[in-house]
Amino acid sequence: MHALAQELNAVLEPTICYRALSDFGRRIYFPKGIVAQTAEANQNCSTFNATAGMAFKDGEPMALPSIAHYLNDLSGRESVAYAPTGGVAALRSAWLSQIRRKNPSLGNTPISTPVVTPGLTAGVAQAADLFVNAGDVILIPDMFWGNYRLMFEERYGARIVTFRFFDDHMNLNLAALEQALAAHSGKVLILLNFPNNPTGYSPTREQAQALAAMVTRYAEAGNEAVVITDDAYFGLFYEPEVYSESLFSVLAAAHENLLAVKVDGATKEDFVWGFRIGFLTFGARGVTPEQYVALEKKLAGSLRSVISNSTNLGQHILLKALQSPGYAAEKSAFRALLEARYRRIKEILAERTSGAPLQELPFNSGYFMTFKCNNISAEQLRKVLLGEKVGTIAIGDDYLRLAYSAVDMENLDEFMATVFEAADKLNMS
Ligand SMILES: Cc1ncc(COP(=O)(O)O)c(C=O)c1O
Repeated sequence: MHALAQELNAVLEPTICYRALSDFGRRIYFPKGIVAQTAEANQNCSTFNATAGMAFKDGEPMALPSIAHYLNDLSGRESVAYAPTGGVAALRSAWLSQIRRKNPSLGNTPISTPVVTPGLTAGVAQAADLFVNAGDVILIPDMFWGNYRLMFEERYGARIVTFRFFDDHMNLNLAALEQALAAHSGKVLILLNFPNNPTGYSPTREQAQALAAMVTRYAEAGNEAVVITDDAYFGLFYEPEVYSESLFSVLAAAHENLLAVKVDGATKEDFVWGFRIGFLTFGARGVTPEQYVALEKKLAGSLRSVISNSTNLGQHILLKALQSPGYAAEKSAFRALLEARYRRIKEILAERTSGAPLQELPFNSGYFMTFKCNNISAEQLRKVLLGEKVGTIAIGDDYLRLAYSAVDMENLDEFMATVFEAADKLNMS
């Protein structure tokens, strides 16, 4: 094993961060190569700096005028230049402040500084790189974002074990998680995504506390857990009883055997789907700042080995937005728009007289709602709707997901009526 990996491992060794590492996670390190040497030179070399693989003129990165034309207020260093491997430092610390502001229960709990990944998909994959070996079990509720299967099973060779998300009374099925934990003693990975894709459900405060207590008890019993929270739709909570923080808040300092890994980002939170900016942040009880830095270096090494770095342009635009005085108000206006659509959908469901085969699953947040299709095929329904020029997502043959986030308020009634009618026709045919 490389000496630098051994150094990082020695720092991490007393913690769950080390014990949870995959084989790759143990081997990886941040090399003292081009990136590290360039960073050193950037601080010291005012005479000539011939380090990074970029082209400079008069001390600034060269940008073609036809590209610079679109960059407006951004300098070359903020746009065409490379970003640091782990992300733009000012953005990382601004995002850390955002995490603390949005998750007040974190208080002063020590956590790592968020590291930038090219979107949340890459954030989850980086967590998998660091903590998942082929054959490992990962517990996921049975309503999950389909890409997890592609990633964990096909890419990483892990074994997804699902537990029922809702019980027979349509409550969050915490008992199913407890059983799944009991069946997997030793070490387990858990992946939780709230607001959930595809259902649009988030736990209530009581459910969030109970869930955290359950995983903590598992750790107290001598087992080790890595809990990945995919917070892609964070902030879009529409009901007062919903827990409006990330589960990371209640897990980050819960127990020495429990490593919380927060995946979040600008993709949905800041309405910049194509920017490709996500963040990965770690929290575990008793981990020191020095140990977090060692883990961040492992993550930086992992990123360096596969994507090198993320969008510099997007990071600087996001940073400027975070610092802009209108940012918070703009976001709450967008959020209010989505919440209004959520409320209209709830009204339509409450008033409906058609669409009998469609049973809505609980939803209180996010972008989506999902119907369980009773007696009819979700895939057939999707195809019928496609014929009516209405796009929806079938999840297997039993569930139909509607992204009401993508339908304007004035079209929601017609949209839902079309779905109900199509379901009724299929039911009768
Ligand atoms: C739960 C969940 N996680 C992650 C993502 C992907 O985020 P990104 O586009 O930033 O990779 C999505 C996108 O649909 C999602 O629904």
